[in-house]
Amino acid sequence: MQITLEHKTLTAVEADALVTYIFDDNDGPQGRAAELDQLTGGLLARLNKSGELTGKSLETTIVHVPAGLKAARLLLVGAGKRDQFNTSTLRKVAGVALRYLKGRSVHTFTFLVREDGATEDAAQAITEGFITADFETDKYKTDKKKDKFIDAATIAGYSDAEKSAGEKGIARGRIIGDAQNFARDLVNEPSNKLTPRILAEKAEAMAKEAGLAVEVLDEKKIAELKMGALLSVAQGSIEPPRMIIITYTPANPKPGAPVVGLVGKAVTFDTGGISIKPADGMEKMKYDMAGGATMIGAMRALAALKPQVKVICVVPATENMPGGRAQKPGDIQTAMSGKTIEVLNTDAEGRLILADAVHYAKQLGATHLVDAATLTGAIVVALANVNVGVFGSDQAWTDKLLASAKETGEKMWQLPMDEEYREFIKGSFADIQNIGSGKGGGSITGAWFIREFAGDTPWIHLDIAGTAWNDDAKPWLAKGPTGVGLRTLVHLVTSL
Ligand code: BES
Ligand code: ZN
Ligand code: ZN
Repeated sequence: MQITLEHKTLTAVEADALVTYIFDDNDGPQGRAAELDQLTGGLLARLNKSGELTGKSLETTIVHVPAGLKAARLLLVGAGKRDQFNTSTLRKVAGVALRYLKGRSVHTFTFLVREDGATEDAAQAITEGFITADFETDKYKTDKKKDKFIDAATIAGYSDAEKSAGEKGIARGRIIGDAQNFARDLVNEPSNKLTPRILAEKAEAMAKEAGLAVEVLDEKKIAELKMGALLSVAQGSIEPPRMIIITYTPANPKPGAPVVGLVGKAVTFDTGGISIKPADGMEKMKYDMAGGATMIGAMRALAALKPQVKVICVVPATENMPGGRAQKPGDIQTAMSGKTIEVLNTDAEGRLILADAVHYAKQLGATHLVDAATLTGAIVVALANVNVGVFGSDQAWTDKLLASAKETGEKMWQLPMDEEYREFIKGSFADIQNIGSGKGGGSITGAWFIREFAGDTPWIHLDIAGTAWNDDAKPWLAKGPTGVGLRTLVHLVTSL
């Protein structure tokens, strides 16, 4: 899909559709909407009067062969209240427009930004909206709908003086949107097509193409390094584990800048192990590697955006299977850090592999850590599929991430990390145990477990179990993997 700026006037635009967005303000067409209204002989005012056009959030109104325009269709997307409008709304509006038109076999369209809206951030958000909306999960369907595609989208409303901002925004939006889709594509792969070894190969190929340093540790090297927690999860599977390390080193590092460690859980399939999960819905556990995919995708974007800080991405990849050699409840394992862990539930495996990955990221030089993981079902209870759960050991570092989340339209909510919860994972027979002994607070005890391995290094944990997968399609996004977290992390690193 081509995305470019449109220089033609509205009446001259010949696309299959002209798109803009309408506010829910009950004060008739304003600004560019008033301009469009005039060009079309009062069409918008008439639609508004008849109740077909209200501007309510994500409402769609289509008019065919609109008088006064060369475009074959006019699509108006509701943008909600004007005073609540931001780039996050714009990203969704752009996505809704694309999916609406694509579903109707439209191949080209022009998206008009509203008055005062021709900024770099707007062009970026629109581009991200287009690209992520264009992503489909039909890779393994043999009867793909061949006529449903968008060839070219243009963005109109940028003056000559605003042109360079618009182009910059499009370029940035493309890098981030493509990276997000890259991550979603990995998450979409079923576990028979994406084993730890295949994930490592794909990460390696991406890194080489993007000009990033990459190293993959095999099971032998993992054993040599005494990554006992990762190995304990992997031992139940015939598929060997991998530890994937991707490093971005800036050409002109900022003096005194942090070294960011991005750690992502990549359990390519989580059966639960001997503490096996119920069959119902287990197929979804192919997305238990979404944290790893997010981090690998973020590295792809960072390679192109070239921030001034060093980033080390560490992704432990394994299956969690109940094979004959699988670890059993009560087993005691020694993590790479030397801490001993009593494995009371083999289904709490994400924290085990992250324990070694976080320790290793620190050993490689990370001064600030963020991990992302589909860690707990409890976070789905707490925050549903709306907010990412955020846990942090250092409020200044956590605040930076929360600001980036806000900026990039990813909903995140911080949960408490009181010392009381730490007590829940004190071990009876080893240093710590991998599930809480208290009642409730399952996401927090999971976070505390990982924190034990981050130590004094500022650390943030993102629990994306509820948000990494859309059970239903949204008007702006296909059903399935969301790529959540990537935009926030890329913004965080580039803003340091
Ligand atoms: N991968 C799961 C968490 C999960 C649940 C992800 C639902 C996506 C949707 C994780 O490994 C797990 O099984 N966690 C257990 C922890 C428990 C045993 C303490 C859980 O949440 O039930
Ligand atoms: Zn599990
Ligand atoms: Zn898991």
